[in-house]
Amino acid sequence: MTHALVVSNVSKKYNMVGSSIQVLSNVSFSISQGEFTGIMGSSGSGKSTLLDIIGTIDQSTGGYVLIGDQRLDQLSENQLSEFRRDKLGFIFQNYNLLDALTLRENIALALVIQNKPKQKVD
Ligand SMILES: Nc1ncnc2c1ncn2[C@@H]1O[C@H](COP(=O)(O)OP(=O)(O)O)[C@@H](O)[C@H]1O
Ligand SMILES: [Mg+2]
Repeated sequence: MTHALVVSNVSKKYNMVGSSIQVLSNVSFSISQGEFTGIMGSSGSGKSTLLDIIGTIDQSTGGYVLIGDQRLDQLSENQLSEFRRDKLGFIFQNYNLLDALTLRENIALALVIQNKPKQKVD
């Protein structure tokens, strides 16, 4: 089966002033097309960190992520923006909706950014 996602030896170390924390160490797994996967772990175990890296919000400090046949760390900022717009769905724990917009407008915004025809947005 084709792999939709490959996470290969991904590590993440957060560096702070005077200290650092190794959150992920050589995480590897792959997910096939059509597979539905959940990630479980205690609070602080690194689930959000891993999803941020897969979701292109953050970068790993080691290893790489492949979505389809594309290595995420080899995309430019513009390519990453296009990738997020066209290929990725991401629901945040705290939603991150825009307060100035209605719920409907928040949903429509993604279609407007993709230049979808007005009928489709409505
Ligand atoms: N931006 C950051 N800077 C420093 N440490 C962080 C940062 N984000 C998360 N951490 C630390 O990384 C660890 C994993 O956090 P997180 O990925 O949010 O875990 P989970 O989502 O599984 O609860 C925690 O110890 C957390 O304090
Ligand atoms: Mg979390």
